[in-house]
This record gives sequence, structure tokens and C-alpha cells, in this order.
Amino acid sequence: MEKETKKSIDIKELQEAFKIFSEASSSLTASYEALKTEVERLKDELKEKNRQIKEYGELVDTILMNSSSGILTVSNTYEILLKNKIADNTIKNFGKDFLNNLYSFTESGIYEFNIKENYFKLSVSKFNMNNIFGLIYIFDDITTLKITEIEKSRNEKLTLMGEMAANIAHQIRNPLGSIELFTSILQRDISADTEKTKLTGAILKGVKTINNTISNILLFTKDVKVNKQKCYISDIIDDVVLYLMHLMKDKNIIFQNKINEEDTAYCDVELIKQCIMNLIHNAIDAVDENGKIVVTSFCNEKHSVIEITDNGKGIPEEFLNRLFIPFQTTKAKGTGLGLSIVYKIIKAHGGNIIPESKQREYTSFKIILPNK
Ligand SMILES: Nc1ncnc2c1ncn2[C@@H]1O[C@H](COP(=O)(O)OP(=O)(O)O)[C@@H](O)[C@H]1O
Ligand SMILES: [Mg+2]
Repeated sequence: MEKETKKSIDIKELQEAFKIFSEASSSLTASYEALKTEVERLKDELKEKNRQIKEYGELVDTILMNSSSGILTVSNTYEILLKNKIADNTIKNFGKDFLNNLYSFTESGIYEFNIKENYFKLSVSKFNMNNIFGLIYIFDDITTLKITEIEKSRNEKLTLMGEMAANIAHQIRNPLGSIELFTSILQRDISADTEKTKLTGAILKGVKTINNTISNILLFTKDVKVNKQKCYISDIIDDVVLYLMHLMKDKNIIFQNKINEEDTAYCDVELIKQCIMNLIHNAIDAVDENGKIVVTSFCNEKHSVIEITDNGKGIPEEFLNRLFIPFQTTKAKGTGLGLSIVYKIIKAHGGNIIPESKQREYTSFKIILPNK
């Protein structure tokens, strides 16, 4: 009896244990499933994180490599750890000079330095990554900015000088008018004496040159106001040639007027006369005795072109891009104002002027004026 009872208890216990086991097993299965799902989710999350890190890395790389600033990172022993495209090109262009300049800055801060005519702005920062110490150099080429700054301060000085010059010019003009008038009267009176009329002729020539210089100074200091009208190009040229004839004769210059009689321009006649006068005057100065000056024209619905070519000494290539800057002269008695005024006038017309030259061969200035 006792034995039987024991047996039934054993079975019961076993059944109980089995039940517990089976419950535990299904709970384990459930937990395992949950764990599996969690692992899958974490795996996906990791994948996404990795993708983001990769993308972020690529973004940082792209920014570094394409930054318009030069970026260079060096270790404390000046071993280059990283450099972007700009830094690479700058080092190639300026070589050791550039690196020596950079490495002379070892403290964090903002600096400026120059290599000959090239100016750089530099930011230096220190870094420490996994016990690697070093410096980060970020730099920009600020040459154009510097030139603009220098030009601005020069322009301010020029404006002041201009005001002064305009005052003086006005004061010279009045007595000059009288000198011209009296000399003309005198010249008429002594017309029989060719030796003396040569002298009065020289005075009149000098007066014209001074007058032209004064017109240039006044134009330089004032804002150019353009009063456009349709006109014949040949009329402008004829007037200027009349004025400069004596100078051309003195040098025995061959002047070829190849202007088409029917070509017109839409411009301020007096201002364009002043331009042509300056250009032909320069051509006269540039050619030797028996030199040649040719003036041609072209016109269509859109624009008119006047070109003045001489076979004089020409303009050095490095001077060509500075031609229109005021006070650039190679002449002992030049003002260096002529071409800057020509430029100002042509730009005020919405036009353009293109110089071309080969030393010891020729120089040409092509004026292009819009026809509206
Ligand atoms: N046709 C030319 N041939 C050679 N050089 C020229 C010519 N035109 C201008 N130049 C150069 O450009 C300089 C500036 O000319 P410009 O502004 O008219 O001033 P300036 O005649 O007073 O020197 C001249 O000094 C000269 O060196
Ligand atoms: Mg001149």
C-alpha cells in the first residue's frame, strides 16, 4: 500500500516536473525568439549606424578635399598626415617656400603672410588624437582681396589728388585761352615772316598739348556723363586729325584713314573725340620717323568698331594688363592718364576697348561701341 502510494507520488512529481520543464522550455523558446528578434534588430541598427558612419566619413572627406581653403595637417615632427587638393596645388606652386612659411607658425591663431606678390591668410590649430600631437593649417589665398584693398586706398588718394588737380586745371585754362587767342592774332600779323610764324606755331602747338592734358585731368576727376547721338565716325576722325596734323607732319608719319564714309556710331561725339585723340596721340609718340598709323571702322546693327593701329615700338606683354590703370606711363613727360580716361569713357558708353600689341611690330586699340 505504502509502496503504491509512493509510486503514484513519483509519477505525480514526475508529471509536475515535466509540466514545469515544458513550461520553462516554451518560455525559453519564447525568450529565444524575442532574443533572436532583438539581435536581428540590433544587427539592422548596427548596419544602419555603419552606413551612416561611412556616409559621414565620405562627407567629411568630400568637404575636406573640396574645401575652397587649403587644409594641411602635420604631426609634431612635421610629417604630413593629411592635405587637401588646394594644399597640394599650393605646395606644388610655391614649393618649400610655402611649407617653411607655414611651419614658422606653431601657435594657434590667425595670421597673414606673403610669398612675393601672393598673400595668404592662415588659421593654425593644435590637435591631440590618440596621443598623436600636431597642427592643423587652414589657409586661403587672399591676393585678389589684398590687391583690391591696395587699389581702394590708392583710389582714395587719387580722388583727393584729382580734386586738387581739377582746381589747378581750371586756373590754368583761363590764361591759356588768352595765350592761344593772342598768339593767333600775332601769327596773323606776322604771317609774312616765316621764321617768326614758326615760333608762334610752336606756341600754339604747346597750348594744344597743355589743353589736351587739362581735358584729360578734368575728365579723370569728374564722373563721365554720356550724351549719345548718332554720328558719322569719319566726322570724329577728321576733327581729331585736323587737331593732330602738325604732330604727324613733324614726324613724317603716314596716316591712312580707312574709315567707311557711311559708318556711324551711337555715342557722345566730344567724349569719343577725346578717346581717339588720346589713342592717335599715343600712336604718334610710339612710332619712329616715317612711321604709319591706320584708322579703320566697321559697323552693323549691334555695334560700331573703330580701330587704330600703329607700327611703333609696341607694348610689353606684362604692361598690357596694366595699361588702363591711371598714372602708368613710360614717357618722361607723360601723365599716364590718357588710356585710363579712354577706358572710363568707353565703359560709360557700355562699350569695350581691346588692346593688342607685339613689341617692335605693332599696337592696335579696338573700340567697340553698342548701337543702342
Ligand atoms: N600705341 C602705343 N604704342 C606703344 N605704347 C603705348 C601705346 N599707347 C600707349 N602706350 C603705353 O601706355 C602708356 C600709357 O599711355 P597713356 O595712358 O596715354 O599715358 P601717357 O601717354 O601720358 O604716357 C604709355 O606711356 C605707353 O608706354
Ligand atoms: Mg597718352
